[in-house]
Amino acid sequence: MTKISRLKNNTIYFDNSATSFPKPPAVVDAVVDYMTLVGANPGRSGHRMACEAGKIVFQARKNIAEFFGVKSPMNVIFSSNATDSLNLAIKGILCQDDHVITSSMEHNSIIRPLKMLEDRGIISITVLPGDDSGIISTGELDSAKKNNTKAVIINHMSNVTGIVQPVAEIGKWCKKNNMIFILDCAQSAGIIPIDLKSDSIDMIAFAGHKGLYGPTGTGGLIISDSFDVRKMNPLKEGGTGSMSDKTVQPNFLPDMYESGTLNVAGIAGLSKGVEFLNNMPEKLKSVQLHKVTLQKYFIEKASKRIDGFKSYSASSGFGVVSFTIGGLSVSEITQRLSDDFDIMSRQGLHCSPLAHQRIGTFPEGTVRFSFSVFNTIYEVETALEALKIIRDGK
Ligand SMILES: Cc1ncc(COP(=O)(O)O)c(C=O)c1O
Repeated sequence: MTKISRLKNNTIYFDNSATSFPKPPAVVDAVVDYMTLVGANPGRSGHRMACEAGKIVFQARKNIAEFFGVKSPMNVIFSSNATDSLNLAIKGILCQDDHVITSSMEHNSIIRPLKMLEDRGIISITVLPGDDSGIISTGELDSAKKNNTKAVIINHMSNVTGIVQPVAEIGKWCKKNNMIFILDCAQSAGIIPIDLKSDSIDMIAFAGHKGLYGPTGTGGLIISDSFDVRKMNPLKEGGTGSMSDKTVQPNFLPDMYESGTLNVAGIAGLSKGVEFLNNMPEKLKSVQLHKVTLQKYFIEKASKRIDGFKSYSASSGFGVVSFTIGGLSVSEITQRLSDDFDIMSRQGLHCSPLAHQRIGTFPEGTVRFSFSVFNTIYEVETALEALKIIRDGK
């Protein structure tokens, strides 16, 4: 039995948009190796073990910077998750009376920090509805633009429907209009190639624990080589291991935004997750192909075999399928999938109420299947059988 099949057992895990499972064996090994063989705090002491921990963290920064088209590994700021990174970007750059443009497809990780700043009278927000699937255009950006618009802050790939925003066009528009472009890549990182330079993106927030196959508790903010970091305040100050004689926060990357001990075990695993993707044949092309194949197969068969099945996903939704089955509540479906068939999926609003309002599934939401490179057609077939049994009331 391979490590992967032992990890998975017979359980079917279709909740990879929440966090991916299983993780590649090299990721697990890296976490265990750090915990058992290295263990020390990087960037603090000068002893051998601390230096080894520092090398692990630097290698991870290097892997991630290369993966996202950024020259300096120091522009990779580690955090706990995509939410943490978005909070740093949003609260770090926005000031009194700034205006922000966002979209109707946002996760609460963007909408809630923006709303909080708006409710406190600090900023104003324009939420672009986009087309019927929530995809925004530069025409809409033109109409929303104000004299005080500072930033466009949007989700790259929807965690509800898998739609992908036209990032290159939006990046060009932001550059032309001198606006900061912040992209939430929680879902797209590890699926869609992202290059901050060629797409004119100032910052991306990523989750390490989803499509990059790292452990939970990992994520980061990547700042483009050309962004002037003096435009962004840190959210927290504290020990960095650098400039310890000073009582003020260092003003260089990544220390400026990375106070406190890092999640080195998680970062060690994340680094191997990125290497795992780099070693895939044709890299992200094969990841996309695998996910789209499972998604198309599932939607096509379910539409034929399951009465009342309705999919809300984009045709190239890269493995994210939101669906309902007429007459059944979404929680009944996911509960029975879990209890009776050992199939893990998610129901409800997926932390994205605006997106459900846009696609007409608010307030009940949808069932979401989200596939990873470890899922198989056989598992999709098993889930189709299970859904048919649930639908037919057996
Ligand atoms: C689009 C999007 N943004 C942000 C997040 C938040 O990610 P994290 O749980 O890593 O904070 C998610 C999580 O599902 C997401 O789908």
